[in-house]
Amino acid sequence: MQFGIITLFPEMFQGLNSGVTGRAIQDKLVAINCWNPRDFAEDKHKSVDDKPYGGGPGMVMMPGPLQGAIHAAKKAYEAHDPTVIYLSPQGRCFDQETAKEFADRKSIIFLAGRYEGIDERIIEREVDEEWSIGNYVLTGGELAAMVMIDVITRLLPGVVGDENSVLEDSLTSGLLKYPQYTRPENFAGASVPEVLLSGNHKQINNWRTKASLGKTWLRRPDLLYKKYHNKEELALLAEFIEEFIKP
Ligand code: ADE
Repeated sequence: MQFGIITLFPEMFQGLNSGVTGRAIQDKLVAINCWNPRDFAEDKHKSVDDKPYGGGPGMVMMPGPLQGAIHAAKKAYEAHDPTVIYLSPQGRCFDQETAKEFADRKSIIFLAGRYEGIDERIIEREVDEEWSIGNYVLTGGELAAMVMIDVITRLLPGVVGDENSVLEDSLTSGLLKYPQYTRPENFAGASVPEVLLSGNHKQINNWRTKASLGKTWLRRPDLLYKKYHNKEELALLAEFIEEFIKP
C-alpha cells in the first residue's frame, strides 16, 4: 500500500521506520513518500503561509504550494487511484472499522495541515475526505497521519506475523481485549488465573470471552449495543455481572 504525505515536516515520518511499521516498509508491504509544500513555494522566500483574510489569529497555509505538492503526489500515484485525506479536528472520527476499509485501498495521500489550517479552496478542489483522530487539537496533522498509517498498516496481510493476533485485537471483535499474562506464574504474590494454566481450550476461550464482555460492559457499554451477541455470550456476560455485583 502506498502512503503519500503532504507535510512541512517530512522528518517526523522517520518515526515509522521502527517496529512493525518499519518491517512492513522494509518488506515493501507499504511505501511512504513525502511531498513538502515548501518545495512548491512560488516566491524567493519559499513562503507557505500567510495572514487570514478577514483578520484573526495565526497564519493559514497558502493554496499554491499545497496544490503543487498534492498534484505531484497524485501524479506519482495515478495508477493506484489515490484518495486525498485532509487531517483536521473538523473531520469524521477515525476508528478501527474505518481502518479496515482503508486497508483495502491501494493508495492514500494524507494532507497534514499546520498553523490555523489550510485555504478552504484546497479542501473544496483537492480533498476527497476529512478525518480526525480524536476530539483534541494537535499542532498539526502529521501525528494524526502517523497514527492512521500505523493502524492501517498492521491490518495489511503479512504485516503482523500471527494473523490471529489482528483478529483477536481489542475492538476488531467489537469488544475490549481480555487480560493477558506471561511468565512467571507467580509475580510478587499475584498468580495467573488457574484456567489459563489448564490447557483446556474451551474453558480458556470462555474465560476470555467473559472477561472481554465484562471489561466492555464496565468501560465501554456503548460498544455492546453496536454488536449482535449470541445466547452463549449473553450468558457469560450475565455471569460476569452477577459475580461483579455479588463478589
Ligand atoms: N490536526 C489537528 N488536530 C487534529 C486531530 N484531532 N485529528 C486530525 N488532525 C488534526
